[in-house]
Amino acid sequence: MKISEITTPAYVIDEKKLKENLEILSYVQKESGAKILLAQKAFSAYKTYPMIGEYLSGATASGLYEARLAKEEMIEPLKGKRKIENHVFEPAFNDDEIKELCEICDHMVFNSLTQLEHHREVWEKNVKNGRLFVGLRINPEYSTQEGHEIYDPCASGSRLGIRNADLGDKLPKGVSGLHFHTLCEQGFEPLEKTFLEVESSFKRFFPTRKGEEGKIKWINLGGGHHITKEDYDREGLIKLVKRIKDTYGIEVYLEPGEAIALDAGLLVTTVMDIVKTEKYPVLILDTSAACHMPDVLEMPYRPPLRDSGEAGELANTYRLSSRTCLAGDIIGDYSFDKEIGIGDRLYFEDMAIYSMVKNNTFNGMPLPDIDIMHEDGEVEVLKRFGYDDFKMRL
Ligand SMILES: Cc1ncc(COP(=O)(O)O)c(C=O)c1O
Repeated sequence: MKISEITTPAYVIDEKKLKENLEILSYVQKESGAKILLAQKAFSAYKTYPMIGEYLSGATASGLYEARLAKEEMIEPLKGKRKIENHVFEPAFNDDEIKELCEICDHMVFNSLTQLEHHREVWEKNVKNGRLFVGLRINPEYSTQEGHEIYDPCASGSRLGIRNADLGDKLPKGVSGLHFHTLCEQGFEPLEKTFLEVESSFKRFFPTRKGEEGKIKWINLGGGHHITKEDYDREGLIKLVKRIKDTYGIEVYLEPGEAIALDAGLLVTTVMDIVKTEKYPVLILDTSAACHMPDVLEMPYRPPLRDSGEAGELANTYRLSSRTCLAGDIIGDYSFDKEIGIGDRLYFEDMAIYSMVKNNTFNGMPLPDIDIMHEDGEVEVLKRFGYDDFKMRL
């Protein structure tokens, strides 16, 4: 099927672009020696996991469900072919879930010393028998972001990560690594600055020689690195990782989400009606910001749209909105060379990340199909949703 023939609304994953991103990440892994994991919170279209696992070292989860998904859809299909790691971090682990997590994960990161000790009995056996590595998330208290408090784990009052003053002189027994995640859609420079800060303020946990007892054996530099963006300083990143590995003899992990599927998907929608107003005419689309691209309202941001300009830039300006009854379900004002008509299709870009994983059926809105466009341009439907998907959650 051609993309012009698909049922809308639909997310269309671009396999070619996904592969290009994975090739870049695989190059960074090979050159630097870092292990790169897929942060599933950004992109969990698991039919692509076997492909992702061919390039990366594994996946990281925000809880039991994502960890299970990685086990079922990345680890199992690649069993005997590639060793895939399964990491998990959660601000607090549930008593009912921790045992299973210890069984299916190889790295578990705690957000507080209270949580670490609360679950010690369960995780410690797995550490002792060599199946599990346990780490602590630290808060470097070094913010490199402005304006986006909601995405800044170093913002004042943050619950994410243990502050330096709250950690003792020694790593708690059984802990072998540290984790920090502080960036969001950022380049290499903020990472370098953050690492330098961590290296100096948490110096007591870094080994002075390889394998030194009681010191870290691995560090996870989190996500938020826009590694696959054209202007990202990848050589800088490679140099930094090599330096960490050479100086301390430790394993280095990166867990980007966005970078893996950046620009690797569309949200295709059809114009259902055009409503005249005293301002711009409003296009009623069969998609919704609130339901199908919540980051547009939450972040907020203006999603890129193929063949369009800013309001007033091209001959015909419209307000793009949705068939929900939420007045604020507005995607933005866009202009086009041609007049738009009912039945026309529009293509929102960069819609693979933080879209399918966040969508919902508010207003009883149907969920978009999940399609994949293969490298030859042929589109295949991976998932189609219906009334049951709406009803079963209520
Ligand atoms: C702990 C952790 N790791 C990784 C990521 C992935 O970040 P990104 O998708 O921005 O690369 C996030 C995102 O919130 C996160 O909280």
